Parts: sequence; C-alpha cells; structure tokens
Amino acid sequence: MTAPESPRPHTAQGAGAATAGEETLRERALHALSTARERTALLTSCVEEPDLTAQHSPLMSPLVWDLAHIGNQEELWLLRAVAGREAMRPEIDGLYDAFEHPRSERPSLPLLPPDEARRYAAEVRGRVLDVLESARFDGTPLTEAGFAFGMIAQHEQQHDETMLITHQLREGPAVLTAPDPAPAPPPAGPAEVLVPGGPFTMGTSAEPWSLDNERPAHPRIVPPFLIDTTPVTNAAYQAFIEDGGYDEPRWWNPEGWAHIRGHSIRAPLFWHRDGGPRSGRWLRRRFGVTEPVPPGEPVLHVCWYEADAYARWAGRRLPTEAEWEKAARHDPVSGRSRRYPWGDADPTSEHANLGQRHLRPAPAGSYPAGESPLGVRQLIGDVWEWTASDFLPYPGFEPFPYREYSEVFFGPDHKVLRGGSFAVDPVACRGTFRNWDYPIRRQIFSGFRTARDAGQEG
Ligand code: AVJ
Ligand code: FE
Repeated sequence: MTAPESPRPHTAQGAGAATAGEETLRERALHALSTARERTALLTSCVEEPDLTAQHSPLMSPLVWDLAHIGNQEELWLLRAVAGREAMRPEIDGLYDAFEHPRSERPSLPLLPPDEARRYAAEVRGRVLDVLESARFDGTPLTEAGFAFGMIAQHEQQHDETMLITHQLREGPAVLTAPDPAPAPPPAGPAEVLVPGGPFTMGTSAEPWSLDNERPAHPRIVPPFLIDTTPVTNAAYQAFIEDGGYDEPRWWNPEGWAHIRGHSIRAPLFWHRDGGPRSGRWLRRRFGVTEPVPPGEPVLHVCWYEADAYARWAGRRLPTEAEWEKAARHDPVSGRSRRYPWGDADPTSEHANLGQRHLRPAPAGSYPAGESPLGVRQLIGDVWEWTASDFLPYPGFEPFPYREYSEVFFGPDHKVLRGGSFAVDPVACRGTFRNWDYPIRRQIFSGFRTARDAGQEG
C-alpha cells in the first residue's frame, strides 16, 4: 500500500453555532475572494474603455467579457446555487456562457459595456459577502469546507491569468509594471536528480478546495526516472534554435512539424531578432516592452510541440504527468504525498513566484526554500510546465459541480500542464492542480522541464 497524502490542517464542523473552524474558513473565503477582485480591478482599470471592449487577439475574449463572466459565474454558483436566490439578469446568462459562444464570436455579442459590467460584478459581490457572513460550511458537497466560495475565487483568478495573457497579446506601450524577481542564487545542486521507482499517492481526496479533476487520491506506480532540477532556460532553448532545431523534422512530432512549417514558427512566441529574421540578437516583447531575451530565465510561450521537440533534440523527453507530480509531492522519507514540494504550508514569497507579484519568471535556480526533498526547484510558479500526458480522468473521477469544468475536455486533444505560472494566484495552484490546453497553444505562460528513464546513459 502507498502511504496516504498529508492531512489538511483544518476540518469541517458539525451543525449548531458557528465554530472556530468555520470562522477560519469564512476568513479564508473572504480573503480569497477579495484578493481576486483586487487583481481583476487592476487588470481592467489600467487601460481605457476601447481597450476593454476590443479583441486584442482572436484567441482571447475582450477584457470586458471576462469581467462580466466572472460576475455571472459568481452569481450562478454563490447566489443561485448556494443561497437559492433568483437570477438578477437572466437575459445575460447566455452571453457569458463560454460554451454558447467561442472566444472569436464574443466581440460581436451585445455585451454589457464596461461601466455596467463593473456595476454588475460589484452588485453580485455585495450580495455574496452578505451570504458569506452567515453561510454554514457543511451539509452539502457544494458548501462543505466552503468549497463553492473557493471554487469561485479560483475561477476569478484563472480569468485574471487569462486577462494577463490578453494584456501580453495587446499591442501598445506598457500599462502594467511590477518589480523584477531577485537574481538567482549561484547554481548549487546537480542539473537532474533521480526519483526512485515505486508507488506514490497521486491526486487528492483531502484538499477541500481541490477541483474535480484533481480527485480522488489514488496509488500510482512510477518507474525510476531522472528529472531536471530547474525548468529549461532561454539559453538552452536558444542552443536548440541555433542548432537548426526548427529545420529538422526528426525532432518533431509529425503533427507538430506540419504545424510549425505551416505557420512559419521558428522561435517562441513574442521573440524576434534585431538583425532581421535570420540574424542578430534575440529580443522579446513582454507587456509592451522590447528587451533582450534573458538567458538564465525559464523559456516561456512555447507550445507542447516545441517542448517535445526540444526534449528529443536534447536526448530526453517530457515528464509524464505522474512523474511530474511524484517529483513535486512525494516525500521519500515518510512515503507521503505533500501539498507542495516544500511541505504542507501555503506558499509564501520565499517558496515560489506566484500571483503576478512579478510579471516574468524568476531565473532558473531561484527559490531554494521551495525545492522538493530531492532538490527539484520551481515546480510551483514561474512557468506552467508541459507534460507528456493527455488530460484524462483519474480512476474514480466524478464531475463536480458541473461537467463543463473538466469532463468535456478529457481526451487526446489536450495536454496537461502542471505547477502554475508567475501569473496564477496561490489559491489556484498546488501540487495536485491540473491545467490543460491544445498542444499548439503558445500565448499561455508555458515552459517545461525534461526527464529521462533511469538506467539509460545520458
Ligand atoms: C483550466 C485554465 C483551462 O481558462 O479555460 C475558466 C479555467 N474554466 N473558466 C480555462 C476555466 C472555466 C480553464 N483552464
Ligand atoms: Fe470561466
């Protein structure tokens, strides 16, 4: 048998007067909702009205759609489902249903104008705070441990990351700024470590705000493998480019090869050379500023096909999703799976680059306090890491609370990304959290690390 995952530090309470545990949950929910709204306000107040209603890329919604969609989901789940309230504006539900209208159609919908969208989201939030004040956190799966409040805070933070992607795609001068991360400490450990083979507990049944696709906890047997202690850097990726990596079909998955040739892709998204297409220094555009590509930083804005090709060129491969999670959670001493690489404590600024505190990844080798027991760094934060795996349900998966969060995306069309980026808040990032996207996607804050089977010569 595998050792179980670590227990969650707080537990749900029985009926009767509000208990100390319930007050802790109420504060957690309030904090998570308020943090998300502050970020949403910042991302939607730093540009003028035309930039809120414009579509900056066919891949993205206008920012004003995200804003009202955030309010609409909050109304659906916290006011209607949890509190049993009537719909505030039933006529707008369809406009903000992501499945009724693909992103490319959203600009032509009769969306609420910015002021109205703000007012609607604020009105929903005012009522939600009233509901939260007297909410009980037991009795139904939706309210147990404040799940619905946590789910909605995570939803808003996921859209805050989406809106930051829209800002990155937007042309024009910088409107968002943040301090840079500290320089990396001098390289300490080895470039890769051996993760011993054997079972570990993947997924979670204990994390109260975990989403349906992270559940349930279940044993997985993972053969021994080696994994990079840091994400792949720009310098390493540039060596692949300079070696003609984009001209060599043998490194590429055939669909990936067709895709990069068909779209003239020769470098990560937002990169260009200052001497024209084939010569000079590599530059990149980042939130409205053009700068030299920093060699020591994890590579960003690569698609799954690029990550997969780089790994093959390097004589390696992408880690499977189970390998990634074992590297991130397995404690070889106790045999338990932790919430995070560093243990069970919530992330602080010492552990990881999360929450849009910085608008870029930190140099490879940063955050020694956040490393795993085997010395693997930056698993959480900085860049979403592509894994080799398709997005599939765990054994015993049950859709909750709606099929459209995860279930409709399961299958070979989507690849799993793990670990979160600098753009995601801690509430929507943990050792079990699963993200997914099409293998051609590059506008997301995606990078990767590589792995190889143990016992094979490197
Ligand atoms: C989990 C990031 C793939 O943005 O499509 C937001 C999250 N789901 N609203 C997405 C989500 C519904 C989702 N990802
Ligand atoms: Fe959404």
